Amino acid sequence: MYDTMSRIKETAEFISTKLTIKPEIAVILGSGLGPLAERIEDRQEIEYSDIPNFPITTVEGHAGKLIAGSLGSKKILALKGRFHYYEGYDISQVVFPVRVLKQMGINNIIVTNAAGGINKNFKPGDIMAITDHIGLFAPSALRGKNINEFGPRFPDMTEAYDKDAVDLIEKVAAALGIEIKKGVYAYAKGPMFETPAEIIALRAMGADAVGMSTVPEVVTAVHSGMKVLGISCITNMAAGILNQKLNHEEVIQTTRDVENKFVSVVMKFVESWRI
Ligand code: 6GU
Repeated sequence: MYDTMSRIKETAEFISTKLTIKPEIAVILGSGLGPLAERIEDRQEIEYSDIPNFPITTVEGHAGKLIAGSLGSKKILALKGRFHYYEGYDISQVVFPVRVLKQMGINNIIVTNAAGGINKNFKPGDIMAITDHIGLFAPSALRGKNINEFGPRFPDMTEAYDKDAVDLIEKVAAALGIEIKKGVYAYAKGPMFETPAEIIALRAMGADAVGMSTVPEVVTAVHSGMKVLGISCITNMAAGILNQKLNHEEVIQTTRDVENKFVSVVMKFVESWRI
């Protein structure tokens, strides 16, 4: 029972057996975006530490648990707390939960994060629907022996982020009177924020926002044919854009301010997403 596929199956069966519902949508909640989980009704929770083969979360403020239940008319499974490469995990551990979700029969995933704004038309507090990403600077989530049960060795990434999902979130946000930005998310390894020169380089490459997560999970989800919506909460402007230094407290404070907006947009999106 020790090869990757056996561990994925063991974990998926453990979770499915514990839950009395069958989730149809998964949502990975980025730092500070946990309050969405509080809106889930008829909740069932499983601590990551109780799940066989799950890595253990290390960063404060990133509580690790699964929360399953109903969000409107949809059955949802929220992952509160994710595994970042900068914490020291192998990239295969970072994406292990996504493999498990697919194995459980979940084909739709929302991946959220806090990100720094690179596009000068952005401001802290903006919500950005991710249209594409740049993941070249970090280790590949799919490195190693391909798991053929999930997808091909050389998966296409032409439409990693579902276009219909981007259109839909724009539409539901507009109906709520909330503006949605759209853009390209660049993945940086962290945990240090970028230098101003790195941000200029990323902008020249077409990035609109930068963060330390999401790309490994999205690549893994797309590999196995899942539909993906990616959302960044722009918590601060990236280095060198404003005349000020960056700090983690600002990131936390802005996510608090954006919370309500974020929660209502995602709830309405989930309600309307065709599964
Ligand atoms: Cl400026 N950079 C990165 N890599 N992650 C962030 C960020 C910046 N702001 C929030 N998260």
